Amino acid sequence: MTQTAVALSTDARAAIAEALNQSVAETAVTTMMAQNFHWNVKGMAFGPLHDLFQKIYEDHFAAQDDLAERTRALDVHVEGTLAGMLARSKVKEYAGHATDKEMIKIMQEAQETLAATLAGCGELAAENGDTLTEDLCIARGQEHEKFAWFLRSHLA
Ligand SMILES: [Fe+2]
Repeated sequence: MTQTAVALSTDARAAIAEALNQSVAETAVTTMMAQNFHWNVKGMAFGPLHDLFQKIYEDHFAAQDDLAERTRALDVHVEGTLAGMLARSKVKEYAGHATDKEMIKIMQEAQETLAATLAGCGELAAENGDTLTEDLCIARGQEHEKFAWFLRSHLA
């Protein structure tokens, strides 16, 4: 049965919010990664890669807010510190000086990780009848798979 936030049990809200918090964390870590690559990419494909990484961080910056505010709509605290996000995130920071091809591969893997996290979050929401969180997670998962495809296509 479909449930709105107020009708969900405390346990269901906590479990869904935990998955949302992981989604926020991974989206934020990937936002910074995309900005890092936007700044530091070099090579003959500088122009399009500089633009693609910008498109990714702009998309992800808006998405962090949507996911975080959905967490708050479930009346659960959002992890809002960088240290806390890094601790949660399965997407890890890349501290080295990557080549353009390495950046594409690293970002492709980050997008695939995010798609899997969002798909899992959506599935958990669906199991608990939380259609509205499920919808947001599906929409975000689709964006990450689209970016993964864009990136993968550069390496074909
Ligand atoms: Fe810029």
